[in-house]
Amino acid sequence: MTKQRVLTGITTTGTPHLGNYVGAIRPAIAASKDDNTLSFYFLADFHALIKSTDPDLVHQSTREIAATWLALGLDIEQAVFYRQSDIPEIPELCWMLNCMAAKGLMNRAHAYKAAVAINDEAKQDPDYGINMGLFSYPVLMAADILMFNAHKVPVGKDQIQHVEMARDIAQKFNHIYGESFVLPEAVIEGDLAVLQGLDGRKMSKSYGNTIPLFLPEKKLKKHINKIKTNLLEPGDAKDPETSTVFQIWKAFANADQLSYMQEEFANGIAWGEAKKQLFELINNQIAEPRERYESLMSEQGYIESVLQAGAKKARGFAQPTLEKLRHAVGIRPLR
Ligand code: TRP
Repeated sequence: MTKQRVLTGITTTGTPHLGNYVGAIRPAIAASKDDNTLSFYFLADFHALIKSTDPDLVHQSTREIAATWLALGLDIEQAVFYRQSDIPEIPELCWMLNCMAAKGLMNRAHAYKAAVAINDEAKQDPDYGINMGLFSYPVLMAADILMFNAHKVPVGKDQIQHVEMARDIAQKFNHIYGESFVLPEAVIEGDLAVLQGLDGRKMSKSYGNTIPLFLPEKKLKKHINKIKTNLLEPGDAKDPETSTVFQIWKAFANADQLSYMQEEFANGIAWGEAKKQLFELINNQIAEPRERYESLMSEQGYIESVLQAGAKKARGFAQPTLEKLRHAVGIRPLR
C-alpha cells in the first residue's frame, strides 16, 4: 500500500506562538507518527519574500521555526523536514505550472484581491505596491504541493482556495501532458484548533495579540496575565464559553482538567487564580521542549545540518519526479 502523503509549509516571517502550536504544529507532529502516512513539512522561505523584505527577519524566523519543530519532537527519520529554498526542483516546477495557470484564476486569489481592495479603498492605482510574487503566490504553493504528489494538505481556512487552485492547475497539466500529478485535497484545521489571542480575537501575528510559544517562564506568565477578561469578581460565576482564559485552557487540558475548570468557573474562580493555573498548565507542557529549543538555538550548526539532510531526502523524491515532468513537456536530451 502506498502511504498517504501529507504536506504543509510554514512561511518564515514570524516567531511561533501558542496559536501556531495548537492549530498546526501539535497536530502535524502527531500526524507524522502515523505509520500509514508520509509527512512533508517545510519552511516556506521563498514565500517569506512575498511578505517581508527584511533579511534578518526571514533568517531569524527560519531558525526559530526549525528549532521549534525539532524541540517539539518532530521525528526527522519518519517525516521529511526541509527548507523550500534548498530544493531547486520547486522553482523549476513553478515555472512549468506558471505556464499552466490561467491569469484569470490568479486574479481571483484572495490574498491578491485583498491587496487590490485596499488600494481601491485608498483610491490608489489598483496595482499599487503589488509585486508578481504576491500575484503568483498560489502557483508557487501549487509547486510545493505537486512536487511531492501530496494527497492531503492541512491548512488554515484562508489557504483552502490555494489548495483548490493547485488542484485546478494539476488537472490542467494532467489533461494536456498526461497523468502526472495526484490531485491534492485541503484538510481544514478544526475550530478547536483556532486559538484566541490576548484580546479574544483569533491569535495571529497580524493582530499583535499573540503569546510566543517559547517565551522565558516569567514572560510567559506576564503574557498570560494580559489576557482580556471582564469585571466579574471572585465568587461570581463565570461563563466559560465567552472566556479566552477558558478557551486557551481547553486547548491544553485533558478531559479531567477540562471538567475541573468548568466547575471552577461555575464556582466563581478569581480571574487572577484562573490565569495562574493556566500558566501552570501550559508551562508544564512546554518546559521541556523550551529547554531543548534554547539549546538548539544556541547550536546553529546542528539545525543547518538537519535541514541539509532533509533537503537530500526531499530531493530524492523531487529529482525523479521533475525528470519525468521535463520529459512530459518536451524538455529532453537531444539524442
Ligand atoms: N502559504 C501558506 C501560508 O501562508 C504556507 C505554504 C506555502 C503552504 N506553501 C505551502 C502551505 C504548501 C501548504 C502547502 O500559510
